[in-house]
Order: sequence, then C-alpha cells, then structure tokens
Amino acid sequence: MSLLHTLEVDLGERAYPIQIGTGLLGDADLIGPHLHGASALVVSNSTVAPLYLDALEQSLVARDIRHDRVILDDGEAHKTLAAVETIVDALLERRHDRRTTVIALGGGVIGDIAGFAASVYQRGVNYIQLPTTLLSQVDSSVGGKTGVNHPRGKNMIGAFYQPQCVIADIATLDTLPDRELSAGLAEVIKYGLIRDADFFAWLETHIAGLVARDPALLAEAVLVSCRTKARVVEFDERESGLRAILNLGHTFGHAIETLMGYGNWLHGEAVAAGMVMAIDLSIREGLIDEAVRERSVALLEQAGLPTAPPAAIGVDQYLDVMAVDKKAIDGAIRLVLLRALGDAFVSTDYDPANLHQTLTTN
Ligand code: NAD
Ligand code: GLY
Repeated sequence: MSLLHTLEVDLGERAYPIQIGTGLLGDADLIGPHLHGASALVVSNSTVAPLYLDALEQSLVARDIRHDRVILDDGEAHKTLAAVETIVDALLERRHDRRTTVIALGGGVIGDIAGFAASVYQRGVNYIQLPTTLLSQVDSSVGGKTGVNHPRGKNMIGAFYQPQCVIADIATLDTLPDRELSAGLAEVIKYGLIRDADFFAWLETHIAGLVARDPALLAEAVLVSCRTKARVVEFDERESGLRAILNLGHTFGHAIETLMGYGNWLHGEAVAAGMVMAIDLSIREGLIDEAVRERSVALLEQAGLPTAPPAAIGVDQYLDVMAVDKKAIDGAIRLVLLRALGDAFVSTDYDPANLHQTLTTN
C-alpha cells in the first residue's frame, strides 16, 4: 500500500481526513482509528462487492470489528428510500447500536444512500466513505451531502451529514469501465471551470494521461479536486451561498438525468452537457467569450464526454424539472454561471429569453 496524500476537511468538531493512495482498502491501520465501536455494517453493491469486499473485510477482522454487510442492486435507479430501508432493516435485525459504523464501499450511489441511512439510524451513527469511482473520489464522498432520489427529482430526500473519513484508493479505478472514468472526469473539469484556471490548463496538458489512467496523474487530479471541494465546503457547509458553485451544469444535468430516466445518462455525462449549456448562457449574457466554450468542449470531448444534451427534451420539460431544483428560491431558477474561466457565481439575474435560447439551441 502507498499513501500518497492526506488532506483535512476542516469543519471544527465535524472535521475529517481525506486519504488518497493505492492499495488502501486492506490497510487496517488506516481505517482502524475511525471505527469507534466494536461493530460495522458494510454497504456495497453487486458489482463492487465481488471486487473489493474481501480486502476491506480483512482489515475489519484485523481490528476485531464484528461486521455485517448489505449488498444492494447496482445502479442509479436503486438510489431510493427502499434501499435506505433495507440498510436500516439490516442494522436493526443484527442489533447494531449507536456506536456502530456504516461503511460505504462503492461509487456515489452507494455513498449517498449509505450516508443517508447512517444519518437517520437511531438519529445518526458514524459512517466512512470508501469511494471506488473517480466521480465519488473527487466529489460525492466529500462534503456530507447524502440522500436518495424521488421520481420527481434527483436527490430530493437527504441530509447534510459528514463522514468520519474518506479513503480514496486509486487502485480501485483500474476496474472502472471507461464510460464511468469519463463521467468522473466531468466533475474534475468542473473544478477547473469554477475555481481554478491553472488546474484547467493542467488538465488540458494531461487529459490523455488521465484517460489512460496514469495513477500519479489520477492521484494529483483527485487531490486538487478534493482540496477545492474541501475549501468550498469549509466556507459554506450547508449551501447557503458559495457551495452552490459546485453545481455548475447540475441544474441542466439533473433535468437531463430525470427526464431521460435515472441511469440512462450517467450523472457525469449529464453534468458535462449541462456545463456546456451553462457556458452557452454565460456567453449569451455577455459574461465570457467563445474561447471558453471552445476550450471546454475540446477538453470534455478528449475526456470522452457528451457536450450537447439529448435532442429529445423540450423547453417546457426542462423548465418544469428545473423549477424543483434545490437551488430554486420562490420559483426562481438559480443557475451557476461563469464570469471567467475559473470564476463561477450563482445568479437569478439572467435574461429568461437567453435561457430559452440556451434550452432550444443546445
Ligand atoms: P455509481 O455509484 O453508480 O457507480 C458507477 C458504476 O460503477 C456502478 O455500476 C458501480 O457499481 C460501478 N463501480 C463502482 N466502482 C467500481 C470499480 N472500482 N470498478 C468497477 N465498477 C465500479 O456512480 P458514480 O458516478 O460513482 O456516482 C454518481 C452518483 O453520485 C449520483 O447519484 C450523483 O447524484 C451522486 N453525487 C453525489 C454528490 C454528493 O455531493 N453527495 C456529488 C456528485 C454526485
Ligand atoms: N456536488 C455538489 C456539492 O457537494 O455541493
């Protein structure tokens, strides 16, 4: 095993470390200090468990932790309250008390479900994030947003609830399908667009190596992404302001995911197309020039991502779904726009005619 980077999400009494490296899942000394009771429940899915559960369980055995497991069906379509109930049922049946720890082993779907189950079980037990997709390593495992989908909207049921630690084992990315790696790169590119033009330029230089899964480049991309996310979350944990910039492209993207049926467009794919739509609106608003679109589209394409939404969605459908976005206030759709590459802000002060154009011409 090789621990390459550690950084802290500094949230006072809810602070926790993010550990990034290779071969970390089987390291009992890494996870051990974050297990405060004598028991744990591992939540994983039918794809990830056969690959990585053994290594994790060996480290739990080495620490004398009595542990159980819940293996959920794979997929965004299963990110439901029913999955949370399955976890709570297992915790109760196997008599887990308030000192137990829920361990999420998988991508963002597992992390979001397991974190939410931990937040409600006996009014809250500890949980640990072991993210195994690029998307979950750079985004969903950090920051404490947990939850599940409702048929009428993505992530509509959930809680802010921070983990005890995040352990991102880059070696798990070896088995990730290409399409999922690309989906993770969408969120990596997002950090460049919203906060860090130098990182965006670094990504332009190294995109081929990232797509080829160079471990040192992936570890660097995870580190920079997590550092940016941590700083934003530290400033605004519960999204009363700044944190919303992490949602660049997400209002459009969530509408695409919802309207195309959960799981048909991957979250990262929908975000990629949504970011180009947000850039288009920013151009129409006179905030940025065409060069930002050209560079972004080129980078997203090299990352293997879509840069336009599906043709099947009409303006009214978009507006209907976007109106229930969690950023919407009093019926106004708040959108993340760019005032420069590397400088995002949240706005309701855009011309609705421009939004209409963005929704019809993209
Ligand atoms: P996912 O969890 O569905 O994982 C993608 C696929 O890869 C699944 O089929 C999974 O079983 C498989 N997989 C996972 N790890 C693997 C591995 N190492 N090898 C082979 N296959 C593996 O999707 P995701 O992209 O990780 O996460 C998307 C979810 O995250 C969405 O539900 C999204 O809403 C959520 N999200 C949450 C936040 C947050 O802040 N909480 C942020 C961004 C996204
Ligand atoms: N992925 C957006 C956030 O964590 O706020």
